[in-house]
Amino acid sequence: MRAQIGIIGAGPAGLMLAHLLNRRGIESVIIESRSREEIERTIRAGVLEQMTVDLLNETGAGERMMKMGMFHKGIEIRFNGKRRRIDMHELTGGKYVTIYPQHEVIKDLISARVKSGGEMYFSVSNVRLSDLDTAEPTITYLNENQEEEEIICDYIAGCDGFHGPSRQSIPADIRREYQKIYPYSWLGILAEAPPSAPELIYAHHEDGFALHSTRTPEIQRFYLQVDPADCIEDWSDERIWEKLRLRLSTDDEWRLIEGPVIQKNIVPMRSFICDPMQYGRLFLAGDAAHIVPPTGAKGLNLAMADVQVLAGALHDYYANGETRRLERYSAVCLRRIWKAERFSWYMTSMLHRHHHDSPFDYQIQLAELDHATSSKAAAQSLAENYVGLPLELEEQPLSVI
Ligand code: FAD
Ligand code: DHB
Repeated sequence: MRAQIGIIGAGPAGLMLAHLLNRRGIESVIIESRSREEIERTIRAGVLEQMTVDLLNETGAGERMMKMGMFHKGIEIRFNGKRRRIDMHELTGGKYVTIYPQHEVIKDLISARVKSGGEMYFSVSNVRLSDLDTAEPTITYLNENQEEEEIICDYIAGCDGFHGPSRQSIPADIRREYQKIYPYSWLGILAEAPPSAPELIYAHHEDGFALHSTRTPEIQRFYLQVDPADCIEDWSDERIWEKLRLRLSTDDEWRLIEGPVIQKNIVPMRSFICDPMQYGRLFLAGDAAHIVPPTGAKGLNLAMADVQVLAGALHDYYANGETRRLERYSAVCLRRIWKAERFSWYMTSMLHRHHHDSPFDYQIQLAELDHATSSKAAAQSLAENYVGLPLELEEQPLSVI
């Protein structure tokens, strides 16, 4: 088979890239190792930046999101039993964040793909990339019937997440990897209960971090900081509610509304960047190239930013043979990615309990929380990062304020 662009992975990065290319008349083939049913029901992100919302709307994939999504003007930060609201709308000149689950974004993008008639193959295995530094980079794989297939491409987009094969296909002596593993994981649950608050609550507590998010008026999403060695069997529903009650508690009348837990899982926390994000005719996008800890709610949004840069650069190539933006892809993306990494690290460090911290470090952490929520300049910085930094599609000179 021949394709202009071979896309590995049908996550937010791969599906949005295919959607953007299709709108520019560029053909692509998507291959995905899991089944459609599985990717449409994997529970992950919930918070979309304004840029992601605008992108879905401008490309005709935002209709369900505008009906089902929830538009939040602020978040609450809790510590020492106190509640402090960050009014993001006010502090950023009118921006929102939108709560709309990742698996719904996936459904919307898959249905756009089906409607466009674009090729997409699920349940593939043994994916290998070759000839990346030639004019005919190639993907080979076994299709769902275990038959070998080959796609000879102009370019390959590695959108196969952190564990996919694309990044590993960049020779080790060219790839520089930066990583930080955090000494905690997140236990995430979905519960059948009404929301206990109108906006998301990020809570720092001596016992550990907790987050109250939402999905629908009937289903809420909660996260708890847990030990990375914990397994799901260590966390009975009763223990989860006890910790949520404790860590979200305030010194006023606020009460947590509980309900049956319908889903739970544990995810590790890491920061990771691969530099460069390209090699020959392979381009990495999304989690294949970088991971952020989820506290800043940035992962899916970064994936959407990468593919906008990549789609623009590929358009230049097909429209007029211009490869300058393709050559600068990694540099353009990494400048913004490092800032999102910094913000995610900052939110993670500020909000989690580091049980081995000295009393001094702990007091500094509380002072950081107090400053972030009581200084207008600090709250504004948090807000502008949380709603999303501006996206630059091309290299820009360093701006000076
Ligand atoms: P993925 O979603 O990982 O997609 C990669 C795809 O490639 C997968 O479907 C996978 O099956 C497929 N694949 C893998 N290997 C192969 C192969 N060999 N061949 C073919 N296909 C392959 N982000 C936010 O922006 N906001 C949030 O609120 C947020 N909250 C989060 C909460 C949690 C608990 C977690 C875990 C993540 C959260 N994220 C959030 C991060 C977000 O979910 C990811 O950053 C996002 O899924 C990245 O998209 P992607 O397309 O790059 O990768
Ligand atoms: C959700 C996930 C996050 O990582 C976050 O910071 C806020 C909300 C969520 O899944 O709803």
